Amino acid sequence: MSINSFVFDVPVEGCYQTKWEAPSNIALVKYWGKYGQQLPKNPSISFSLSKCFTTTEVSFSPRENGQEAFDFLFDQKKQPEFHPKIQQFLDRIIPYFPALQNHHLYISSQNSFPHSSGIASSASAMAALALCIVDFEKQFHNDWNDEAFLNKGSFLARLGSGSAARSIKGPLMVWGQSEAFSKSNDHYAIAPSVDWHTIFHDYQDTVLIVDKGQKKVSSTSGHGLMKGHPFAIQRFEQAHIHLGEFKTALTKGDVERFIDLTEAEALCLHAMMMTSNPRFVLMQPNTLAIIQKIQDFRKQTKLPICFSLDAGANVHLLYPLQERLSIMDFIQKELTTHCQKGQYIEDQVGNGAKKI
Ligand code: DP6
Repeated sequence: MSINSFVFDVPVEGCYQTKWEAPSNIALVKYWGKYGQQLPKNPSISFSLSKCFTTTEVSFSPRENGQEAFDFLFDQKKQPEFHPKIQQFLDRIIPYFPALQNHHLYISSQNSFPHSSGIASSASAMAALALCIVDFEKQFHNDWNDEAFLNKGSFLARLGSGSAARSIKGPLMVWGQSEAFSKSNDHYAIAPSVDWHTIFHDYQDTVLIVDKGQKKVSSTSGHGLMKGHPFAIQRFEQAHIHLGEFKTALTKGDVERFIDLTEAEALCLHAMMMTSNPRFVLMQPNTLAIIQKIQDFRKQTKLPICFSLDAGANVHLLYPLQERLSIMDFIQKELTTHCQKGQYIEDQVGNGAKKI
């Protein structure tokens, strides 16, 4: 795959408006560590979600002399604190789409979930913005099929936030070169043409909100600490092995193996944080209390429930749809007490981004 195929430098003019919705995702094999320009040190796989998403509308118009590159509204309000991240994203994608410099972007975004819920929104936000930009570019590519369009969308989204590369299609997305998946590569994520077992098509993800606050250490800094990390080589090897094993579990419907791998990945991610230099802990007492209760509950009831974690204190509870009633009962009776203001978000696996 040549990156040059992603460069599009025909200067264009005119107005264009588009709106996209892109989902959040939860990684099963975690991306933790990067090289070059937002390229992953190991491959990852994630479930795309369906109810947690960002909707972004962009109006492109010819840019006047001295005009800012963009205006940004979040929830209909100006939010300057988001500007540096958007500016960084635009700076990174301009080499692949120089014509963007001749345009002003009026960006308006909102999330389906509370912004202050502690749920990372950069994946869905960057994916939705990237898809609007690719949609603009698509006017000039009569030859593009859906796959070419989405690959470019994922490629640009990655430059905004690595995990955003996977917030494009569903139900499962693989990002990063892996022997287990043909066509997988470091530049953009793919939705592998694999017959995933039906049990995973509507798998549930209930996100227990342990902490709504800003993370003490950003993911971007955490990735940086994998450089020179004493366990980096072993970790990257393990991620490759886990990915192959996930492929088998996810196609066979082997929920027991799925649970084992999912929890191993979640804890290994946090083990990397706790053993980096400087080391840091993002789990909180309530995170551990929830993990303990999930493991005890699974042992007692034999119900197939497990947890995943991203780079924060919140806990993602993953389980099959058919077990929903008993597990919701457990969540309400046992787990909400460990959540900030008793809050949780019910979500499930989804099919990816869509144009609105
Ligand atoms: C723990 O994609 O947020 O959620 O590329 O610096 O924006 P940047 O990092 P980001 O890292 C996500 C890390 C993770 C694991 C994952 O989603 O794979």
